Amino acid sequence: MSDEKSFHMTTDEFRRYGHAVVDWIADYHSRIESFPVLSQVKPGEIRAALPKNPPAQGEPFESLLKDVDRLILPGVTHWQSPNFFAYFPCNASGPGILGDLVSSGLGVQGMLWSTSPACTELETQVMDWLVEMLNLPEKFLSSKSGGGVIQDTASSAALCALLAARERATNYSSNKKGCSGLLVAYASTQTHSSLEKAAMIAGIGIENLRLIEVDDNFAMKPEALARQIEADKQAGLTPCFVCATVGTTSSNAMDPVGAIGEICRRHDLWLHVDAAMSGTAMLCPEFRHLQNGVELADSYNFNPHKWMFTNFDCNCFWVADRKALIQTLSILPEYLRNQATESGAVIDYRDWHIQLGRRFRSLKLWFVIRHYGVEGLRHHVREHVRLAQEFAEWVRKDDRFELAAPAPLNLVCFRLRGGDAANQDAVNQSIMDRLNRSGDLFLTHTKLKGKLTLRLCVGQTNTQARHVEKAWKRIREEAEKVTAAA
Ligand SMILES: Cc1ncc(COP(=O)(O)O)c(C=O)c1O
Repeated sequence: MSDEKSFHMTTDEFRRYGHAVVDWIADYHSRIESFPVLSQVKPGEIRAALPKNPPAQGEPFESLLKDVDRLILPGVTHWQSPNFFAYFPCNASGPGILGDLVSSGLGVQGMLWSTSPACTELETQVMDWLVEMLNLPEKFLSSKSGGGVIQDTASSAALCALLAARERATNYSSNKKGCSGLLVAYASTQTHSSLEKAAMIAGIGIENLRLIEVDDNFAMKPEALARQIEADKQAGLTPCFVCATVGTTSSNAMDPVGAIGEICRRHDLWLHVDAAMSGTAMLCPEFRHLQNGVELADSYNFNPHKWMFTNFDCNCFWVADRKALIQTLSILPEYLRNQATESGAVIDYRDWHIQLGRRFRSLKLWFVIRHYGVEGLRHHVREHVRLAQEFAEWVRKDDRFELAAPAPLNLVCFRLRGGDAANQDAVNQSIMDRLNRSGDLFLTHTKLKGKLTLRLCVGQTNTQARHVEKAWKRIREEAEKVTAAA
């Protein structure tokens, strides 16, 4: 059989090219500061440079890597650049990338315990470790009533939480009969848009997702939530779910989880806590007060793929009552039946999320946690917070600028003062556009109280003091140019 024709890469070739790829990645990371952070290409430019038709014959691997440099890199926005301050981070690290590579190498599809016991059991263990690392309530442990599962994103976690809440509130009848249109869910005006999407998909309907008003610091007003729930009940509706956010996307506002949780208990509503980015800060005891009351949550999630050095995608989602989640999402067709499942002694994570198939994501998380240890993770999180706080202090001390929201952790919302509202917005937009066009750094914006606001988030793996200092220098330079020209 050895002379059978094959187009496959041989093991020796794989070894050789694999080393070349790891070298390429290491080189990329060491020269990353030489690229403009935000890709400067125009729409269609990358596609136009690609061949119109697929190759009829295979090509040498060397030319693939060359084309990554030539054709792909110009169209990459460098999320791993230490000068990336936009959105929320999506950071990565050596151990995370290598863990992902091992996962690709194993090529496991872990839908059932039996399709790779290690894929399930490592995940359970790592999720239990994280309960301890983040000081989450014990009820989230797999040894208690709950348990954790790795999802692709916080959006999927929110959808799963909402589905479980919907089923719990309807005694598991919505799955059978569909939704009545009477169920109501609650979030704040600042909650991430994924909740609206979840309400659409879960059959709640966005008109039945109440966006509760926020206070001056952009945190949900619990008394407004309580009033709305009462009004909905009086109108014959069925409140079922509340999402509280620890660190909103727009301004990193902290909803008062404890007060919201008390209201949920009183009305028997499912409380989901979305700590997509800021959950990582809970590694450090000094930040945990930001989610006081988390013991009242029915579900909780955070994204190690945002701020915990674990490359995309990796969301950690816990529930206090795994039975509610499993009863909501479990279907067992004949072709998936197996002895381990029937024994009831194992977890089949396919029942814990939307899709059936699943990657071995816990490997990269395990690599990250073991490489850094709790000590190393805390060190870098504290350093990012320290740098952001220093930046906030520079803004505070410069009369030309103002802070637009409290900065509890690593996100600073700020703007240049002055002019009427429209003019001020235009000036700040112009500063941001000029900075982003320069390629020196990448910032994004939001609107707070109707005003355009610049956001600087410190969370990229290799961001150091010199990068934040340079960002502040460049921001002031562009502000001077824009105001001089006005
Ligand atoms: C608070 C919050 N929730 C949810 C999300 C959605 O994250 P994902 O891309 O993992 O769905 C984000 C993204 O930035 C977020 O900031």
